[in-house]
Amino acid sequence: MTTTVAAPVTPERIMQFAWGYVPPLVLEAAIKHRVFDVLDAGPKTLAEVAKATKASERGLAAIMNALVGLEFLAKDSQGLYSLTPESSAFLVSTKPAFQGGLIRHCSEHLIPKWLGLNEIVATGEPAAAVNDEKVGADFFQKFVVDIFPMSYPAAQALARHLRLKPAARVLDLAAGSGVWGIALAQGSDGVRVTAVDWPEVIPVTRKTAAKFKLDGRFAFVEGDLLKADFGAGHDVATLGHILHSEGPERSRALLAKTFRALAPGGTIAIAEFLVNAERTGPVSGLFFAVNMLVNTASGGTYSFEEIAGWLKEAGFVQARTLEAPGPSPLILATKP
Ligand SMILES: C[S@@+](CC[C@H](N)C(=O)[O-])C[C@H]1O[C@@H](n2cnc3c(N)ncnc32)[C@H](O)[C@@H]1O
Repeated sequence: MTTTVAAPVTPERIMQFAWGYVPPLVLEAAIKHRVFDVLDAGPKTLAEVAKATKASERGLAAIMNALVGLEFLAKDSQGLYSLTPESSAFLVSTKPAFQGGLIRHCSEHLIPKWLGLNEIVATGEPAAAVNDEKVGADFFQKFVVDIFPMSYPAAQALARHLRLKPAARVLDLAAGSGVWGIALAQGSDGVRVTAVDWPEVIPVTRKTAAKFKLDGRFAFVEGDLLKADFGAGHDVATLGHILHSEGPERSRALLAKTFRALAPGGTIAIAEFLVNAERTGPVSGLFFAVNMLVNTASGGTYSFEEIAGWLKEAGFVQARTLEAPGPSPLILATKP
C-alpha cells in the first residue's frame, strides 16, 4: 500500500502576487526612458545608459536590475547591461514586432481604472466605459496604433489562409488602425477594404492605411457599429477585438448585421481573447474579462462554443478556429 503525502501549502504565490504590479510598471518606465532602444545599439554600463537617456542613475539602476531579475536584460561581470533575445525582438520601439504598446498605457489608462476594482465588484458598474463613444473615442485614437503589432502577424496569417482573389471586398469592422484590412489588402493586389469605426478614430485608420500606401484601396465609414451603413456583398468581414467590449447582446446584433453585409460564400473572421467553455482558463482570457468589467458596461470574454452559437443563430455555418500568432486562435465562419 502506498501512502501519498500532500505537498505542504506555502504562501509563496501570494507573496509573489503582492508585487504583481511591479513587472508592467518597470517595463513601462524602461520603455518610456528608452532603455531597450538605447541598448539595441549594444551593451552599455549604467553610466552610459544614464547619459543616453538623461534619466537618473539611481532610478535606472533600480529598474534595470529588476529587469535583469525578470530576464528582460542581462548583466555581465563588468556591469555591462545588454538585451536578451526576447527584449531585443519585442521591447525595442523601432522593431516591427514591438509589443510595448499595451504596456505604455499601464500607468496612465489601465491601472488608475483598476484601482477602483473593489467598488466596481460591489456595484458591477465600470468606473468609465470605453464602449461609450464619449469616453472611448479619445482613448482608442492612441491605443489602436499601439496595439497594431499585436494583431499584425495574426492578420497576415489570415491573409495567407484566405488567399483572396484580386477583386475581393473586405469589411473591416471596428477597424482601429486598420490592421486587419491592411494585411488582407497587402496579401492580394486589388483587394478593396471598407473600414468602419467611430468618426474620431477614422482619421487614424486613414493615416495608417496611407503609411502602408493602401489608402487608395480603402473606403471609410464613420459611425456606431450598430448604426453605420456596412454596404453589401463583401467577401470577408473582420471583427478584430471588438466583441469583448460590446457584450453579448450587441455582439449578437453585430454578427446578424455582418451576416447581411456579406455575399453568399463570404467569410467572417473574429479575433478575441478566448476562454474555455468552463471558464477555468486560459488565465489571460480570465484576466481580460476582469479588464472588461473595469472598462465596459457589459463586456467580457467568451468561449469558442459561445461565439459559435451566436454565429449559428445569425445564419453562419462551419464555425471553426484558425491557428494564428496571438493569445487565441481566430474564429472563422461562412455565410452559406
Ligand atoms: C480594441 S480596438 C481594435 C482595433 C482593431 N480592430 C484591432 O484589432 O487592432 C476596438 C476598436 O473598436 C472601435 N469601436 C468600439 N466600439 C465601437 C462602436 N460602438 N462603434 C464603432 N467603433 C467602435 C474603437 O474605436 C476601436 O478602434
